[in-house]
This record gives sequence, C-alpha cells and structure tokens, in this order.
Amino acid sequence: GNPLRIGIAGLGTVGAGVLKLLTQQQDILAARAGVPLVVTAVSARNRQQDRGVEIDGYAWYDNCLDMAEADDVDVVVELIGGADGTAKVLVENAIAAGKHVVTANKALLAYHGQSIAESAEAKAVAVGFEAAVAGGVPVIKGLRDGLAANQVERIVAILNGTCNFVLGLMEEEEVSFEDAVREAQDVGFAEADPTTDIGGFDAAHKLSLLASIAFGTQVNLDAVLVKGIDSVAAEDIEAAKELGYRIKLIAVADRNGGHIIQRVHPALVPLEQPLAHVGGPGNSIVMQGDWVGTVEFGGPGAGEKPTASAVVADIVDIARGFQVPVFGTPAAQLTPAKSASEDNS
Ligand code: HSE
Repeated sequence: GNPLRIGIAGLGTVGAGVLKLLTQQQDILAARAGVPLVVTAVSARNRQQDRGVEIDGYAWYDNCLDMAEADDVDVVVELIGGADGTAKVLVENAIAAGKHVVTANKALLAYHGQSIAESAEAKAVAVGFEAAVAGGVPVIKGLRDGLAANQVERIVAILNGTCNFVLGLMEEEEVSFEDAVREAQDVGFAEADPTTDIGGFDAAHKLSLLASIAFGTQVNLDAVLVKGIDSVAAEDIEAAKELGYRIKLIAVADRNGGHIIQRVHPALVPLEQPLAHVGGPGNSIVMQGDWVGTVEFGGPGAGEKPTASAVVADIVDIARGFQVPVFGTPAAQLTPAKSASEDNS
C-alpha cells in the first residue's frame, strides 16, 4: 500500500527518539503496519542543535503549523508540549485539515481533550495519545481497548516518573531534593518546567485522561485534588522507612455514587504493596474492573525510548486503520464528571 507519511513537530527528547525508532526498526514497523512509515517533514525551534540523530534527509519546516496544510503529511506527530500555544493550534489545524494526530501532550488533552475529541470524531480522524500517559506503558490501549467490556470502579497509580525517580534517589542515595530534580532533568524525565512534575500537575493531567476513559466522563482536570512532593522532606522519607512504608506520589480515581473522586498526593505506601516497589522513573497503574477483577500495568513512565515506543505504536495503529473514539466512548456521549466537592443536587 501507499506509505503513511509522517510529520514530526518538536525534536526534543521524545521527538529525537521517535525519529531514531522509525529509522532503526523500519522493516519490522512496515511489516506490522502493512505499509512503510515514512517521515516527510520535521520541525523544531532550533535546527542546528545536536540530537544524536541525522535530520538532513527530511524536509525541514521553519513553521510547524505548515505541516497541518502539507499535502504530503498524513499524520501530524505533536511533540512540542504545553496546553496552549503552538501545540494546540497545530493539533486543531491538523484535525481540521483531515489529518490524524499523535501526541504525547497530556497537558493539552487535560485542558482541551473534549473539544479535540469532538473535532477529531467529526472529521473521522484518529488522535493517538498512548505516550501522554505512563510513557512506554500501554495503559491507554489496555484500558480503552483491552478493558472495553468492563465498568471500572477504581484506579490507583503512580503516574509521574520524575517524582518517583526523585523520591527514590532521596531514599536510596540520600541525594538532596534539588539535586535529584536536576538529575531527572538531565536524563530527560522531567518536563521543560519541572514544577509541573514536582507539583503533581503532570500526574493530575494523566489521571484526568485515564478517568475519562475509565468512567465514560468528560475530562475534568478541575476536579482533581492536587498536592505535589515539594513538601516531602528527607526526614519524612526516613521516618516512613523506619515504619515500613515508602512515600510515593499516588494518583487515585474512584467511582463514588454519582461522583468521581480524583486525587494526586504523596502517600505512605506499605512495603507489602507492589506500588511501594516501583523504582526509578517507573509507573504503575492498578485498575479494578467489574468483570476482569484487578489488572496491573507497569513499566517505564518517562524517557526517550519508552515514550518513543508509545508514539510509534500509535502511528502503527493509524496505518492499520484503527480509528476508535479518542476516549473510548464517543465524545458526544461522555457525561460530565462531577467532583466530590460538587453537590449532587
Ligand atoms: N515528566 C513526565 C514524567 C514525563 O516524569 O512522568 C512522562 O510523561
């Protein structure tokens, strides 16, 4: 068949990883996708930067927004980041032009997921966002597709690799909070502004997306109670350890009568529980479905290769012709997510 033509906007940690993966696994990917996956356009803020990958062979776009209009781009891969600004305009324009979108941008979807899903479904294009939640862990596909027959009652998860990595370094290596955060930035786990990770906001973005799929509700970021790890001191970690616990940044979404309770905060996790043993930038998601029982997903939640793995899996899905509702339930049928603080009147 005709090659699937890909435009990549944003060549940071993840974008560079996607280029490498598409090149290095080209034959396997073509076999699995049924058609060759060909990069026809790339764009980033700075062309010259060393990324450990050759970009001379691809058409360079000074303005990534031109990709949305390009005749030789079938899928726009948005790896710019940020809830608003260029990323949002690019995604909206690409959908309006009838192009598929793959994005790792959880902030964008947490704020604008409903309108993006509505436009994409109206245009019959796909919006893949496996990489937006839990990095390389295929939890979106697992929840939306694999658990499609279940009513999910509860999700308990570790969704931010940076926080998990930082808490781990503080406990095991007695590294200071600041140094641990710097290390997370250096290895490419942290967001451009690490406050997004440390403050619990990134985990909240991801939780709001999972909750939408799990409960068939509209994404409601405002309903998420958020507390980050900035207030966790070395002494807290030490005290927890002595009592047989580990401090983890936990994300929980619960069905509670007519309400959905969503919260992100540091918690004492007893060492008997598997979540206590998620190390490094690991993520873990435990879900309870009414038919399946308890299902766990886990693996690397951040970093170049795992995140690229998830992005490219979405591209393969699109090549195969998969086109499912963005949040599993058609956007027009998602119900408002009432938070616990809203009176159920
Ligand atoms: N900054 C994010 C994290 C990257 O640390 O989990 C993956 O979404």
